[in-house]
Formats: sequence, structure tokens, C-alpha cells
Amino acid sequence: MKELGVQMHLSTDDGSEGYKGFNVDLFKQYVEANYQTENKDSTFHISHSIFSKVYTVGPEIMEFKIAQICWEHEIPFEVSLERYMKCGFGICGQCCVDSTGWRMCVEGPVIDGEKLKQITEFGKYHRTASGKVEKYPWAK
Ligand code: FES
Repeated sequence: MKELGVQMHLSTDDGSEGYKGFNVDLFKQYVEANYQTENKDSTFHISHSIFSKVYTVGPEIMEFKIAQICWEHEIPFEVSLERYMKCGFGICGQCCVDSTGWRMCVEGPVIDGEKLKQITEFGKYHRTASGKVEKYPWAK
């Protein structure tokens, strides 16, 4: 990444490297520091030219919080949505998500932020290996 000239923003829980705290908090600070609005024709338009796209992969609670920030600031993003898989090629239905029925092994696992709005279980629950719905402890 450094060879490509990518500006890195690191975070660690204990502060041993970069920002001390959660990467979501660092991301939010960065977005808000670079959030710009333009007044065109009496309507506020969001300018997010410094963000071409956000890609997130990791624990769903983190992805959920990143998604909320991106939706709020109209930043294009993609999420890698992890679901329990069995067959891995679209016939068993284990990895289907509500309410679209998309199979994460076929239609996913990478989902565009706009499409993600249709996945009602995102950030709320998932299914165990037996197919039982398991609500996330943080979900409201
Ligand atoms: S793992 Fe079987 S349909 Fe996706």
C-alpha cells in the first residue's frame, strides 16, 4: 500500500500504533473532517470527491457502523457480508439473507451499499449452522 502511495490511517485498541480506539471512530472523524457541502441552487449537495469508494470487511458490527456513516454522507461503498455457507455454489440455501433471498455464495458476498439497504437482516441477525436465527447482541 505504501508503494502505491496510499495514505494509511491505522488504529489499535491500545494505541500502540496509530489512533487509539476503534477504526470506525477514526473513519468517522476522517469523514467528518473532510465532509464538504456545496450550495447549488439553494439546495445542499454533498461533495465527497475525496472518497471514490469505501470497502469494508470484518465483523458485522463494524461493517454496520461504517455503512451508517457512508449512507449518511452519501459515500459509495461495498461490504463483504459473511454468512454461514454449506454448499458454496447456490443450491442449499444456507447463506440466503432476508428479505431478498440473495445467496451470499452466489449473489455476494460483496454487496454494494445501495443494494445492501434491501438486506433487512444486515446488522440485526444472522443464521447459525442449523439455520436458526441468532440476533446480534448490539442490535436494537
Ligand atoms: S452455501 Fe449453499 S446456497 Fe450458499
